[in-house]
Amino acid sequence: MDDKIRVMLSEEEVAARINEIAAQVSKDYEGKKLHLICILKGGVFFTCELSKRITLPLTMDFMSVSSYGSGTVSSGIVKIVKDLDDPIEGKDVLIVEDIIDSGNTLSYLIEVLKQRNPNSIELCTLLDKPERRVKKQVQVKYTCFTVPDQFIIGYGLDYDQIYRNLPYIGVIEQQ
Ligand code: PRP
Ligand code: MN
Ligand code: MG
Repeated sequence: MDDKIRVMLSEEEVAARINEIAAQVSKDYEGKKLHLICILKGGVFFTCELSKRITLPLTMDFMSVSSYGSGTVSSGIVKIVKDLDDPIEGKDVLIVEDIIDSGNTLSYLIEVLKQRNPNSIELCTLLDKPERRVKKQVQVKYTCFTVPDQFIIGYGLDYDQIYRNLPYIGVIEQQ
């Protein structure tokens, strides 16, 4: 493996921004039933870091989805591979993702989860790549960083399942 990786956002830059977002979430969800939903696998690292910095009581659950499609192009068809363990009725759901790309995953998930009668449902993402958006209706409440259309890895994001554990956000340079 000899991919050339450039650091786009350092561990320190990411931590500082997650601190800000966690403070904002802590303010906005005061007195509410905050329920984080982590979207596996990419969302795991951000969910851990974010939740450790939120100063409110909260609950969390995990969901795994897969989008069918060839290569890097998402088909827009999403399948639930692992559903939530707990009901979300009456809860203030905050979906936590590593990246919003086409928006297919999230537009589907939000529609499915809305039918389970949460009190509210919002989206929090580490990265947003708006240039790639197909589903324009996806509304993101909290975005840590907006990124250009490049091949991004680290902090949960993989390239063929590798590099998720990089503690920073990197870009694979074209050789
Ligand atoms: C990635 C990413 C988001 C989704 C975003 O997950 O973590 O969940 O794609 O793409 P979209 O906006 O075009 O739907 P992936 O399906 O690669 O699974 P992973 O998290 O297990 O890597
Ligand atoms: Mn994912
Ligand atoms: Mg992936």
